[in-house]
Amino acid sequence: MGIPENLVLYAETVCDEAYEISKRLGIKTVLKKPENDILYLKYNGELSVNQGDLELKGDFTRLLNRIKSINSEFLIKAAKPSPQNMTAIDATAGMGEDSLLLAAAGYRVIMYEYDPVIYELLRDALNRAGDIKELSETVKRMELKCEDSIGAMQRLDFAPEVILLDPMFPKRSKSALVKKKFQLLKMLEKPCANGGELLNAAIAAHPGKIIIKRPLKGGYLADKKPSYSIKGKVIRYDCIVMS
Ligand SMILES: C[S@@+](CC[C@H](N)C(=O)[O-])C[C@H]1O[C@@H](n2cnc3c(N)ncnc32)[C@H](O)[C@@H]1O
Repeated sequence: MGIPENLVLYAETVCDEAYEISKRLGIKTVLKKPENDILYLKYNGELSVNQGDLELKGDFTRLLNRIKSINSEFLIKAAKPSPQNMTAIDATAGMGEDSLLLAAAGYRVIMYEYDPVIYELLRDALNRAGDIKELSETVKRMELKCEDSIGAMQRLDFAPEVILLDPMFPKRSKSALVKKKFQLLKMLEKPCANGGELLNAAIAAHPGKIIIKRPLKGGYLADKKPSYSIKGKVIRYDCIVMS
């Protein structure tokens, strides 16, 4: 967690949005494209993280097809579709794709992301999705907070139906499956060193169910055996039923 040293935001044109993002992150806005292999943020109406030829930004439109058959998603099989107003907490929001699937299945989703740069990328993707007809109703159900979910879950004043945990683990980050541009994200994300604390905070929030996203052959989070697991080709959802 934290902002890489010397990170700058390159604005293609002078605009308030770019300066506001830089201000929130406490980094410089530059009007000249950084050279060589420097990691930088770029704002051109959309926020992205860049290095050399690689560029990564949040893009929920790539989930549109999956949303059409939302109930066949393994995550939704684990969570069960939500008729109305059920609340899911995504304690490790990342780029928000799992949250979007939960929201598309009817959940109101509260998303926590503690890395300020990833939070900004996600915030930008959510804002843009709000303008897309097929996604606008879904993103209205999504609320993003830049906060450590371990503390936040301990302070919840209601019991959510579902809590999703998808912390990144060092092993997974080295996977050959991680596409080149997603390696940019991996440069920002820090592996989770406190899986036990995350799980304990989720248990203390008294949800109906905790869903833990794991690599298919990965160990259990904090060695806690789930009630049952739902397995995809590369991902496993460990479900701990609490009520
Ligand atoms: C593997 S990614 C999650 C990907 C996400 N499920 C998706 O669909 O895009 C894990 C994210 O959780 C964040 N994270 C890890 N521990 C956290 C915590 N205690 N509170 C908030 N965010 C956390 C990391 O910064 C990282 O962005």
